Amino acid sequence: MLPLLLLSLVALSNCYEVSVDHFQQWAFDHGKTYENESVRAIRTLVWLDNAQFVKDKNAENNGATFKLNQYADLTHEEYKALLSPISDDAITRAPEDMIAMALPPWVNIPDSKDWREENAVTPVKNQGACGSCYSFSTTGALEGACAIKTGKLQSFSEQQIMDCSWQYGNNGCNGGMFDRAFYYIQQQGGIDSEAAYAYTAKESHTCKYDPKSKAGQVTGFYYVKQEDENALQAVLALKGPVAIAINAGLRSFQFYSSGVYDDPTCDATLNHGVLAVGYGTDKDSGKDYFLVKNSWGPDWGLGGYIKMRRNSNNQCGIATYPSIPDC
Ligand SMILES: *[C@@H]1O[C@H](CO)[C@@H](O)[C@H](O)[C@H]1NC(C)=O
Repeated sequence: MLPLLLLSLVALSNCYEVSVDHFQQWAFDHGKTYENESVRAIRTLVWLDNAQFVKDKNAENNGATFKLNQYADLTHEEYKALLSPISDDAITRAPEDMIAMALPPWVNIPDSKDWREENAVTPVKNQGACGSCYSFSTTGALEGACAIKTGKLQSFSEQQIMDCSWQYGNNGCNGGMFDRAFYYIQQQGGIDSEAAYAYTAKESHTCKYDPKSKAGQVTGFYYVKQEDENALQAVLALKGPVAIAINAGLRSFQFYSSGVYDDPTCDATLNHGVLAVGYGTDKDSGKDYFLVKNSWGPDWGLGGYIKMRRNSNNQCGIATYPSIPDC
């Protein structure tokens, strides 16, 4: 009896029924409401197209699975508009060759690492409908650095970075860069706790930083050697979580659910800031991966995380612009 039951559960979970009924269930589950029936009809068609895409991607069986998440009623163009292109002037700055300075060749690197196991990663956050990804990369990297230094894990304020780092080249809800944010926090002298300076998913030009609520600071920051996945691995192994920029623009990324995300067509067109918190090798597929924390809530991907292919020609530009702060 039991094996039969298990079998039917597995069969069900692999079966995406591409139907209007299923759309209605999805809309209910995700709390989606639409202005009127014509908008609902358009979103139904978009959803049905995405449902077919997800079904086809899952049938490829390439070691990753895909699901109809909160973005399932968005066209791919609408999804991409949520990302923020990383401007050229941000990536022409010559990185310091940090790992070449810091890592003697005889140092051994473990085969896997997960900073969540060392209480250096806060729960997954949600940036909402605001292009503030860079501020979440910034807080994530600094939360890790400060937890490792002090033994105390605290959540830091993205809103402060958004409201207060305009002069450093960041653009509120319209994108920015984590290295500029590190520099801002260093100059400012601190960052408030999340609780003291809460996230609103809206930009403001009124900086409300309060030194009395300071929970952390940046004493310096580094770039990891560019396009060198071994260097990124080594910094992750020896130092802490690393802020990275990636290409999250493919339709497969939009619907990632589990396994190692591996799309050889994913180039280094950087458009999203995230946080690398570890690495390893997947037992089932044998693929190396970086473990990446996203800021789209815990329902996206693998509990809010994605395992991205490692050691495959710098896929999605994962090692193109890594940066890490000192607390
Ligand atoms: C439905 O809402 C959309 C978006 O606000 C609007 O453009 C459209 O005219 C509305 N259609 C009807 C039939 O009310």
